[in-house]
Order: sequence, then C-alpha cells, then structure tokens
Amino acid sequence: MDRNLALEFVRVTEAAAIEAAKWIGKGDGKKADGAAVEAMRQRFNTIDFHGRIVIGEGKKDEAPELYVGEELGTGNGPEMDIAVDPLECTDSVAFGRYNATTLVTTGPKGSLLSAPDTYMDKIAVGPTARGVIDLDASVRDNIEKVAKALGKNVGEVTVSMLDRPRHEGLIQEVRQAGARVRLITDGDVAVAVATCQEESPIDMLLGSGGSAEAVLAAVAMKIMGGEILARLKPRNDEDRKEMAEMGLDDKTIFTSEDLARGDNLTFTATGVIDGPMLPGVIFNPSSILTHSVVMRSVSKTVRYLTTYHHEE
Ligand code: FBP
Repeated sequence: MDRNLALEFVRVTEAAAIEAAKWIGKGDGKKADGAAVEAMRQRFNTIDFHGRIVIGEGKKDEAPELYVGEELGTGNGPEMDIAVDPLECTDSVAFGRYNATTLVTTGPKGSLLSAPDTYMDKIAVGPTARGVIDLDASVRDNIEKVAKALGKNVGEVTVSMLDRPRHEGLIQEVRQAGARVRLITDGDVAVAVATCQEESPIDMLLGSGGSAEAVLAAVAMKIMGGEILARLKPRNDEDRKEMAEMGLDDKTIFTSEDLARGDNLTFTATGVIDGPMLPGVIFNPSSILTHSVVMRSVSKTVRYLTTYHHEE
C-alpha cells in the first residue's frame, strides 16, 4: 500500500474531529455525528484512491453518507475496503463526557469482516498477554493468566469495560477475582487500543460492545501486537436473521486476524475528547490542536501526530 495514503487518511480523521468537537457539550449528538460524517466524506473524496465502505453509518436507505457500499475517493489509485466510525462516542460529545474519537481503517477488498451492526462479546489484551486469553474461560481464569503474563499480582490488574447494566455480573466477577475495574461511559475501541499502550494503566478489555467497533479495534490490535477475541451476540431476531443471511453464527470466536485479515491494513484515529487512546481537540485563539495516531500493518509503524491547524 502507498505509504503516503495512510498519512492522507489522518487528514480525514482530523477534519472530522475538528467539526465534531465544535458540538462538544451542546446536547445534540446527531449534529455532532452529521458534522463528522460530512467532513470525513469531503476529505475522502479529495484523495487519489478507490474506496468502498464496508462498515459505516448504516445501509444506504438509513444513511445519506458513508453508508455501506458507498464509493469514496477520486477513483484514481488503489482499490480499498474502508471501515469508519466518523464519531465513536456520539453521546460523549453531546454531553461533554470523556473519550470520543474519529476512526478510519482500510484494507484490501474482503479483508475487514462484514457483520451485522449488533453486539459482540469481547476480550482484549496487549502484546505481553496475548496468547493467554480465552473467551470461553472464566473471568477469574483470564485475569489470573493475564496477571502471570504481565508479571503482576492479580490485585494490580486493571480491567476496563463499558458502564452498562448488562455488565453488572461481570463487574462483580472481576472484583471477586481481586482485580481493579475501570468503567467507561463509551468507547471500547480506545480501551482495546489502550491495552497495547505502555503508558496506559489498562490491562484488559472485557464485556460486550458494538460489532463494528470490534473490527476497527482488531486492525489496531494486530498492528500493535495485542489480541482481541470476539463473538457475535445478537440483540434480537432481526440481528439473528441478518447474521444467518451472512453465514454468521453466535458461536464462532473471531480472533483479530479473522476480524481484519492480512498485512495491508491501516488504522487512523483523531481524539475529539480526551480518552485512554488520545487527547482531544483544543481550540486556541490562533490555531486548532489535534492529536492523532496512524498505524500501518505492513511496517507495524505507529505514529502519533500533534497538529496545529489554521482555519481560514
Ligand atoms: P457510538 O459510536 O455509536 O456512539 O458508540 C459508542 C459505544 O460506546 C461503542 O464504543 C461501544 O462499542 C458501543 O457504543 C456499545 O453500545 P451500547 O451503548 O449500546 O452499550
């Protein structure tokens, strides 16, 4: 893949983050998301490539822009599949809470798992503990094995999960095992990535979250050397029907390699509001400051970019 192309995608996530950040705390998630979507689409269409959305804002009849199947780019250049979350954590932006990002991942045709927009049960860890996790093992077992791999006492292991009523039992199990719980209101992609960042206190992600987010996280986990295991958890009969039509079930455990295949992938994110993965947008009197990460799987490079933008 063209090395410069990965750096082009950061302009896409930066533009979306700046537009979304203008809506922080204004109570209107739809406007924040719409601003991110519009900025993302405009930027994508200035780039020389032939992209097709495989994970986006929904189906064509549900979303006017960045819908599954939408073609992006000038049409000149390599063909690529794109998975986007123009604004991961819409509510965090609407209500001025912690942790929101704009996300783009790309890969060759067929590399990113196409699944219905439902939930997945997830477990994710960084490079040192990859290979010891098992989605079918008990919470205690997983935590003890991760502690051993990390050379920590169980009491020093920090497990993060979404703060949801459905996780009440899980929270108790983590506490009973003796580990620490860190709850987040939204944004499990950033938490999965944080397990791979040495400067982050988070050792494990557990619990259920969006299926699209599992695919997006898997790209970063592969590049950073961590692991995410995920299994589809349909919310209702409609999800089950859609899964069956796509030849998917609720038994298969997907590894990060199953979710994002091959070695020609990119992951790009820009912070909108501070979170475990990235700081958010800062509006200064004469510039706008953004923080992004750009990863390429072919070289396994992980670049952090701090950028000062001067708006016209
Ligand atoms: P959005 O990007 O749709 O705002 O999702 C935020 C998020 O917290 C994800 O990070 C997570 O995977 C999912 O929602 C969990 O879904 P739910 O809020 O239904 O528990």
